[in-house]
Amino acid sequence: MDKFRIGVIGCGRISAVYKKAFESMSDILEVRIAVDKQKDRAEAFAATFPGCIASDDLDDLLSMQLDAVHVLTPHFLHKPHVEACLNAGFNVLTEKPIATTIEDAESMIRTAGQTGRQLGVIFQNRYIEGIQEAKKLIEDGTLGKIRGAWSHLAWHRPPSYYQCDWKGSWEREGGGVVIDQAIHSIDLVRYLMGCEVDEIQAHIARRVLTMIEVEDEADAAIRFSNGAVYAFSACNYFVENSPIRIEVAGENGTILLTESVVDISLKDREPYRVEPSCDPNDSHVRYWGNYHAVQIADFYSKLRDGKTVPWEPYDALRTLAVVLGIYESGKNGGVPVVPAVR
Ligand SMILES: NC(=O)c1ccc[n+]([C@@H]2O[C@H](COP(=O)([O-])OP(=O)(O)OC[C@H]3O[C@@H](n4cnc5c(N)ncnc54)[C@H](O)[C@@H]3O)[C@@H](O)[C@H]2O)c1
Repeated sequence: MDKFRIGVIGCGRISAVYKKAFESMSDILEVRIAVDKQKDRAEAFAATFPGCIASDDLDDLLSMQLDAVHVLTPHFLHKPHVEACLNAGFNVLTEKPIATTIEDAESMIRTAGQTGRQLGVIFQNRYIEGIQEAKKLIEDGTLGKIRGAWSHLAWHRPPSYYQCDWKGSWEREGGGVVIDQAIHSIDLVRYLMGCEVDEIQAHIARRVLTMIEVEDEADAAIRFSNGAVYAFSACNYFVENSPIRIEVAGENGTILLTESVVDISLKDREPYRVEPSCDPNDSHVRYWGNYHAVQIADFYSKLRDGKTVPWEPYDALRTLAVVLGIYESGKNGGVPVVPAVR
């Protein structure tokens, strides 16, 4: 079977995780080109893969014959980079968030439709084994009607994290702790609920990281169409990266995620724990949910079989719509907001 010929745009922090995943998948893919506006970063990435070109010019990538491209650039560049690749005839797997605006995301989805190429969006934490188990228990009715959910994120992002040309900017990052870090929690709760958000009442603040223009703290009451209320909270100024926590409560029990471990308590059954298979320390980039390799493998397996690649862009757009609803409500004194796309 021919190997997938692939390219990468953006060789910054998260690219180390991709490098490792691609190394372990050398039987099914060949990394042909790495692009970064800082050429030394492209060179460092390309050096791992025999014959891989390093470039600071996107046109070099667009003129090649490739099967798929991974977009790992700043949020505001996802739209132009994804659309350029789709128009060049490549399938694309982009990092979250799909985009910074609904209009950009809709345009990307239209472009994928027009070009007949596939667009997938990274939400690697959906692959956590305990989340998959929870999804099954919710879908088959074991958990019963969902009564509510909460999530809390308390992470540490020092001022130095924002000393670059896009983080901490409404225009370029698209927001702060909600769109960049806590989007994973919001996406997981949406994924588990299996229904859409009716209304959001939120509060956003800039309290400690006052050198940035975006929020370093947010909370919200998020009402789903099944009647469940999701209590969301996040801040970026804790002293360390505390484990993420998410709980979903149903009539027949609860599901509690702590980082990547999931504890399941069901009525009349012994509580049990689903441990993650991916070692969180198995990467020199410390981030939540070491499941990129799993999603990337799934992407190529679906591409090979002619199936829809994960995760479907309209699904990612709905998660973005919740994020943007939090911002709209938060900027307007907590007024109830209906997400722009449901
Ligand atoms: N899924 C996750 O858990 C996770 C974790 C971290 C980051 N991310 C996502 O990965 C993406 C990148 O984040 P990062 O932390 O690696 O950022 P980064 O700033 O470290 O890297 C971005 C890279 O893009 C390059 N770049 C910028 N403009 C470019 C252009 N016009 N052409 C080519 N290259 C360009 C920069 O030089 C930089 O090397 C973001 O979407 C972020 O949200 C996801």
